[in-house]
Amino acid sequence: MARIIGGVTTSHVPAIGGAIAKGLQQDPYWKPFFDGFGPVRHWLAETRPDTVVVVYNDHGLNFFLDKMPTFAVGAAAEYRNADEGWGIPQVPPFTGDTALSWHIIESLVDEEFDLTTCQEMAVDHAFTLPMALLWPDQIWPVKVVPVCINTVQAPLPSAKRVWKLGEALGRAVTSWPGDEKVLVLGTGGLSHQLDGERAGFINKDFDLKFMDSLTADPTWATQFDTHQLVEQTGTQGVELLMWLATRAALGAKARELHRNYHIPISNTASGLMLFEPA
Ligand code: DHB
Ligand code: FE
Repeated sequence: MARIIGGVTTSHVPAIGGAIAKGLQQDPYWKPFFDGFGPVRHWLAETRPDTVVVVYNDHGLNFFLDKMPTFAVGAAAEYRNADEGWGIPQVPPFTGDTALSWHIIESLVDEEFDLTTCQEMAVDHAFTLPMALLWPDQIWPVKVVPVCINTVQAPLPSAKRVWKLGEALGRAVTSWPGDEKVLVLGTGGLSHQLDGERAGFINKDFDLKFMDSLTADPTWATQFDTHQLVEQTGTQGVELLMWLATRAALGAKARELHRNYHIPISNTASGLMLFEPA
């Protein structure tokens, strides 16, 4: 049976792509952020996952406001990056784990999640940059399954619903008769707001409480509705829903192996966590 060997949760900020292109990893502004990934890369070199299920939100590259699925799962043989207008280099294409994709889709639909299934899917910075942080040479040693959760256009799925999706995703992976070692990678957050009167809003207290909760009391954030999450974390801070889905996929108990938290990267409180299922 396929096994979930770990979960990584991280922020995704387009400026990271610019810093990589310019080789600014040791620059004082960037160093505290990039240094956080060393232990995760070390863990990856030891555990060697075969497939990464990437839980992220698209920002208008694959889905625009005219057609916005709440939950979408990729089932393509290949996923390509494209120009989002940030002026950052594109990364090489990713190979899809199509067999696992279809199993996840069938399993989630069977559990009454009404998904959009994508046999063509462009992947944006929320997918590509976290992958480039885990594998800086951008020679991807893994296959991928994209799982997309809408956090850009109201109405968003509730934290409760996203937790349940994550649990079902965990069951889907572990019921697959293949022998893949699977990493779940959730990208987004932590607190940030890019627009409006509160542009630049960051809530360190909430971020740290949320990070702590993922180990000690992982359903803690499911008490909040979407408006409360936006109030606490900013309009784009709700991307932390990806962290919740990722943590849920790991099962009731998980061990925290590593974390980093650094403010700000661009407009965002950047966070990073690595878990193993207990
Ligand atoms: C920024 C953060 C994001 O999550 C994103 O998708 C785009 C930009 C930022 O802080 O600049
Ligand atoms: Fe984002």
